Amino acid sequence: MNSEGHQVEVSAGVELPPLVIKGKKIPVPIIQGGMGVGVSLSPLAGAVAQEGGVGIVSSAALDRVISKRNGRKCSAYEAAYEEISLSKQSGGFAGINIMVALLQTHDAIVEGAIDAGADFIISGAGLPLRLPLIKDPGETALIPIVSSPRALELICKKWERAGYRPDAVVLEGPLAGGHLGFKFEELNLESNRLENLFPPVKEMAEKHGGFPVIVAGGIYDHSDIVRFLKMGADGVQMGTRFIVTRECSATDAYKQAVIDAREEDIVVAHNPGSPSGLPFMVIRQSGMYQSALSRKRKPVCDKGYMLRPDRNGVFNQCDSKLENSNSFCICNGLLSSAGYNPGLEEPLYTVGVNGYRIDRLTTVKELMAELTGTGCKAMDNST
Ligand SMILES: Cc1cc2nc3c(=O)[nH]c(=O)nc-3n(C[C@H](O)[C@H](O)[C@H](O)COP(=O)(O)O)c2cc1C
Repeated sequence: MNSEGHQVEVSAGVELPPLVIKGKKIPVPIIQGGMGVGVSLSPLAGAVAQEGGVGIVSSAALDRVISKRNGRKCSAYEAAYEEISLSKQSGGFAGINIMVALLQTHDAIVEGAIDAGADFIISGAGLPLRLPLIKDPGETALIPIVSSPRALELICKKWERAGYRPDAVVLEGPLAGGHLGFKFEELNLESNRLENLFPPVKEMAEKHGGFPVIVAGGIYDHSDIVRFLKMGADGVQMGTRFIVTRECSATDAYKQAVIDAREEDIVVAHNPGSPSGLPFMVIRQSGMYQSALSRKRKPVCDKGYMLRPDRNGVFNQCDSKLENSNSFCICNGLLSSAGYNPGLEEPLYTVGVNGYRIDRLTTVKELMAELTGTGCKAMDNST
């Protein structure tokens, strides 16, 4: 029996090798991926770091989330600085995820994270072409997220012109939670399966000096990790499994929605979808998604994280600002899921394709023991 009173099965696993990035030797080659809005904050990132993996804070809408927690207004810079400092205070490696699409807060978060001594900045949802130019990263490793070898090549060429090379790359396939880096109609192509994307991305990483390749999207258990490491991956990034841990800052309702989700409940929101234009994974029953499907929610954009600049450089453009036909406001839905404006807005739950396999709450310690094959594998009560 484990601490929750559930049956457990002892699984003898394969020992996982450490992951080395920019001279930092990470004992467990598991990166807990950044999860916004307000899902992966310092309590989760710090706990993963203490267990020997890498804890990653999400920077999406972090200024609002931390302002609410602290009861005073924090800038994006201060929020990033504080969350990195808290994540690292008990030891281990921690960093931040920065979405390129969130243009207005982007540079301030890079600066806050580097100043706070982040071990890693992991950046995707767009091509992080400017990342090494914003501030001298010092000891902070800069890691782009890509979904194709071509995207990695573009980034390498641009960064090389700035005298920098990626310290590692995260290759994210189509089974991940959050936004996906594929066109909707290309999600199910055989060539886009993570297993098939890996060899050409590894080759590209070798061509540009040989840096670690970390795979993400749909990795669920110890055997998945071992399988990808045997293929030549240097580490894995996982999000979905960490949502339903005690340390995760998702609301209890969010965690329960993941536990309750069946395979057919996890769908790609597309038309209406995210105003970023990227496919976005959701739990079908999420209130905000249901309202979007029925076009019930009036177009509102009062948070503005997804705003793009107009021709004059004024940030006032968002596809879900004026009309609801193709997209809906994910800022408000995701903030609601993070407990930001309960009752005022309906929640929007995002999760990876394998989320339906999760059947109960656990702790980071138990999950990391299961994933590394050093501990107990939690079993369904019914077995
Ligand atoms: C709830 C949730 C929120 C996420 N938010 C972000 C995000 O803000 N930025 C990002 O780059 N990736 C985000 N991701 C992707 C994760 O960082 C990670 O790469 C992905 O979850 C890996 O796939 P998995 O969920 O199948 O483990 C999110 C994933 C989930 C499940």
